[in-house]
Amino acid sequence: MTDFAARVEQVSISGIREVFEAAGDDAINLGLGQPDFPTPAHARRGAIEAIEAGRADAYTSNKGTPQLREAISAKYDRDYGLAVDPEDVIATSGGSEALHLALEAHVDPGEEVIFPDPGFVSYDALTHIADGTPKPVGLREDLTLDPATVEDAITPETAAFVVNSPANPTGAVQSEADMREFARIADEHDVLCISDEVYEHIVFEGDHHSPLEFAETDNVLVVSACSKTYSMTGWRLGWVVASNRRIERMLRVHQYGQACASAPAQYAAEAALTGPQDRVQEMVDTFEQRRDLVLDGLTDAGLEVPTPEGAFYAMPKVPDGWCDEVLERGVVVVPGDAFGANGEGYARLSYATGTEELKEALEIMADATRAVR
Ligand SMILES: Cc1ncc(COP(=O)(O)O)c(C=O)c1O
Repeated sequence: MTDFAARVEQVSISGIREVFEAAGDDAINLGLGQPDFPTPAHARRGAIEAIEAGRADAYTSNKGTPQLREAISAKYDRDYGLAVDPEDVIATSGGSEALHLALEAHVDPGEEVIFPDPGFVSYDALTHIADGTPKPVGLREDLTLDPATVEDAITPETAAFVVNSPANPTGAVQSEADMREFARIADEHDVLCISDEVYEHIVFEGDHHSPLEFAETDNVLVVSACSKTYSMTGWRLGWVVASNRRIERMLRVHQYGQACASAPAQYAAEAALTGPQDRVQEMVDTFEQRRDLVLDGLTDAGLEVPTPEGAFYAMPKVPDGWCDEVLERGVVVVPGDAFGANGEGYARLSYATGTEELKEALEIMADATRAVR
């Protein structure tokens, strides 16, 4: 009988799904990883017009339409003053596929991939799928990733390390100094830095910086997407930016696994990137207000929570049994250990939920905290 591939047997369905399935229909869901805003109208129109004009019926170039790649290139110039050649971009099916391409193209069997723990669930799973060896590393007290921790974890077997700022599940934002260090480490150790920047625009204080700004070699690769910035998770449109030799290797994986990103989504993304950006700022302002509400509510409930400076997650330290107690009272949160062993004793809350629901959830969480203490 045909056995299942060992690579795949090492991966299980994300713990986040299990929590959703355990929740009642009328539960308040603080488990979701997607903004609760509509996709901007001009992005939707970009797709509708392309469909109606018959421009979205055929395969596009494997890397994506030239116009979309121009728009992505212009975005890096606008946001970071970086010159990205449109030839050095692949439009992907979300940031997820971009991460997959990066690992498939750079990790040999058994090679190590260093990533934050707690960290986004895909880093561990995609490393296994690429037949690599996951090397989760712990975070600082403020839940940022210390470049020194990454440097210490590098061995001759290291293929790549992942930086994710702003971060899922912590909401932590790396400083510019840290990003400079990550770039230096990638350069000096000649290892690939995969910078997952899907939350790059959702930052409350200061600016997001990318290690790509500081690297002197081509050892930094950037993954981003329209998913969070433009509330387009369902459209499945992301990208990877890297040097041409890396893009050409990732294109081999993309060409045979995907052919090209969905054409209608590419037109929507082009419109999102080239159109007015004011909706993004409105969304970020709303997330910041909710962040403050959540921070106050959790602190008043007696929980310790590092101040999230970006994305739309908070990660309080919680007593034993807290997540179950909260879930039983009708609020969905994700236990921290769904994001790695070091997440134990924490919970992830997403505040991509309306303010009234958040207030209600905070009261329930305060009651649950009293009950388990
Ligand atoms: C840190 C991080 N990277 C990548 C992704 C994947 O995003 P996409 O929906 O664009 O595939 C997510 C989605 O939750 C994420 O949180």
